[in-house]
Amino acid sequence: MDWNITETNQLTPQDIDRQGNKLLIGNGYIGYRGTLEEFNKEQKTATIVSGLYDKVGNQWREPVNLPNGCFVQIIYKGESLHALTSKVISHAQSVDMQSAVHMRETLFETSDGNCITIRSRRFASLARHHLLCMEYSISVDHECEVDIHTGIDGDVWDINGPHFVEMETYERDNVISVSAITHENAVRVVVSEAVLFPVENETRTTSFRDFDKVPIQSTLTFYKFISHVTGIDSTDPVKASRELCKESALLGFDSLLAEHTALWSQRWEACDIQITGDEEAQQALRFSMYHLLSIVPAHTERASIPARGMSGQMYKGAIFWDTEIFMLPFFTHAFPSLARNLLLYRYHTLDGARRKAHEYGFRGAFYAWESQDTGDDACTLFNVTDVFTNRPMRTYFRDKQVHISADVVYAFWQYFSLTGDASIWRDGGTEVVFECARFFLSYIYYNPDKHRYEILDVTGPDEYHERVHNNAYTNRMAANTLEVCRKVVTYLQQNSPEFFEELITTLDFESDLAFINDVVSNLYLPDSNPTDGLIPQFDDYFTLENLPLKSLVERKLHPHEYFGGGSGLATTTQIIKQADVVLMLYLFGEQHSLETKSVNWEYYEPRTEHGSSLSACSYSLIAAQIGKVDWAYKYFMKTATIDLSGKGKQYVGTLYIGGTHPAGNGGAWMSAVFGLCGIRCINDTISINPHLPAHWEQVSIPFMLHGQKLKITLTHEIISVKPLSPLEIPLTISVGESIYPLHATGEIKIQIN
Ligand code: BGC
Repeated sequence: MDWNITETNQLTPQDIDRQGNKLLIGNGYIGYRGTLEEFNKEQKTATIVSGLYDKVGNQWREPVNLPNGCFVQIIYKGESLHALTSKVISHAQSVDMQSAVHMRETLFETSDGNCITIRSRRFASLARHHLLCMEYSISVDHECEVDIHTGIDGDVWDINGPHFVEMETYERDNVISVSAITHENAVRVVVSEAVLFPVENETRTTSFRDFDKVPIQSTLTFYKFISHVTGIDSTDPVKASRELCKESALLGFDSLLAEHTALWSQRWEACDIQITGDEEAQQALRFSMYHLLSIVPAHTERASIPARGMSGQMYKGAIFWDTEIFMLPFFTHAFPSLARNLLLYRYHTLDGARRKAHEYGFRGAFYAWESQDTGDDACTLFNVTDVFTNRPMRTYFRDKQVHISADVVYAFWQYFSLTGDASIWRDGGTEVVFECARFFLSYIYYNPDKHRYEILDVTGPDEYHERVHNNAYTNRMAANTLEVCRKVVTYLQQNSPEFFEELITTLDFESDLAFINDVVSNLYLPDSNPTDGLIPQFDDYFTLENLPLKSLVERKLHPHEYFGGGSGLATTTQIIKQADVVLMLYLFGEQHSLETKSVNWEYYEPRTEHGSSLSACSYSLIAAQIGKVDWAYKYFMKTATIDLSGKGKQYVGTLYIGGTHPAGNGGAWMSAVFGLCGIRCINDTISINPHLPAHWEQVSIPFMLHGQKLKITLTHEIISVKPLSPLEIPLTISVGESIYPLHATGEIKIQIN
């Protein structure tokens, strides 16, 4: 199976945008868009580093796009060879997912008929996370001379910039550096480069090097080693950045590539799912994992994965619930230590969540809807601009999507119960859970007429219906928060009583605990109606206008018109933006019958616009459970190909939201593993109930549970589970009504058909 994702001759502006996302390379610290070396800000080149944000004036706070060290322009007899303006005979651009290397090969024909081929390879080193390495070669048909203009392009693409002040350039020992400070917090940012060039006729202009009249007989190759260091990472970023360049140039491209590739091989060994019988699905699923691996911050627990990954400044580089609900499962079952990093980011931003709760008059922790480095909310109260009037629209994402705090707690418990890593509770998890539980205690209302607690005035996952009462998802998640809190309390009382006593005193949590016990059993959970089995998404949902999605779309007057907000087209109808009840049915699958799942899937599916990339996987997951394998496959492919096809939404109102969709990528893994392969873990039992598409011959999945590595292989006839190292904790496999103990080293094979 080919590990390359290749695009040939795709050079329209839309292709450039799509490829920039799709062919991104990254190592969790640096994300570099899949653009060409001669491109500049017009083609959205971007080098994003994790955890660095900046705000200019009253504009939105967003990630900082660093100066572009990969810039190279070849000039032949005064003619700049540029993929968009020169005569291109052929062009191929690709990413080798196995080694995370971006490649391009472009054949130009010059106006005097010479054929010049440019080839390049670049990677964001997984071994040295501040480093990008590039190999660039020029091959000619006829011996000639070219001018080569390369360096660090400080004139970058910004949505709400410019973010740099005091930009300066200097050079010593053949290393050029561009150094600047950010606007808001004066963080120093340094990009340096060392170049290994075969001839020495270089002249310099600011941050660029010019190699003039370079003779080329057949091929000329040079290398660039580009480092990116900020004042957050180092006390002397200039020195650190320059030293890294020098050291890398000494090591050379090939040995740096070898260490990088070896680390990527280890990663693939831990997670690569192999599907026999469906090359398209295989590629899409690998592509999804490739993106998640390229952007996960392995180097720190103080950053997480933004909703648009590291593909630019879109969505303010903010972290949403996307990470906890849609990306975490992949990491939990393949790279638990990375899952832990992602969770602890929420501990490090807990103070921001406390500040937000306080700002709105609540107690505890109300996590940011759009979280950045401090945990303060980057989401504005007017987050969408109306396309008709160009006026900002009041949206209730920031103040009413309270489910975010419950999503975080859900994720902590999932991680603990699937990895068994109890250290998470002492390392910050308990505090997060207690503070989120406390937040819901202060948010709920007691309805004396109905003798129950309710959650009023919220926005659920479906953002087209804001400020609703008793959103089924939110209420269930809030109840889960309180239940998890009780389970953590019990666990700590039994296992770490001193730590527990100390924390409960420090947080003054005693009286809250007593209150939780009362609320847990009296919180209203919208349930299925006995007559038709339907669960209302929120109070009175079924009284809204009931029309087909197609009819709603026909009412649109502008292609980018926003469906939600106070007067959006969907708000008075039953058309929803994304999975809401159906997601709840998946997350709390054990508590709902197949009948309930089936009835609600059938009802909500035609009413869902899938206006968010988070939606498709939920519909795939439940479709698989209720035996609708074709639909499960269809929605799996939709989520797995979102960034391959580039079909995600590009605008909401006037806001550009293009970029990668890591939640869609995580959703692809979930749909494949939990949906089509039917794997579900409950304590130490893995239940396997496959719903493989007819054309899938075999699937094999590396899978971790409780720190133990397994290989699960499924065909239409046999399920096999093999421990990859001796089991330290006994596990059982459940298939249908039967339970099979998994032996320490032996593989078990279960005949299913
Ligand atoms: C969705 C949210 C999601 C966000 C970032 C929005 O369109 O409605 O649920 O968190 O995008 O992906």
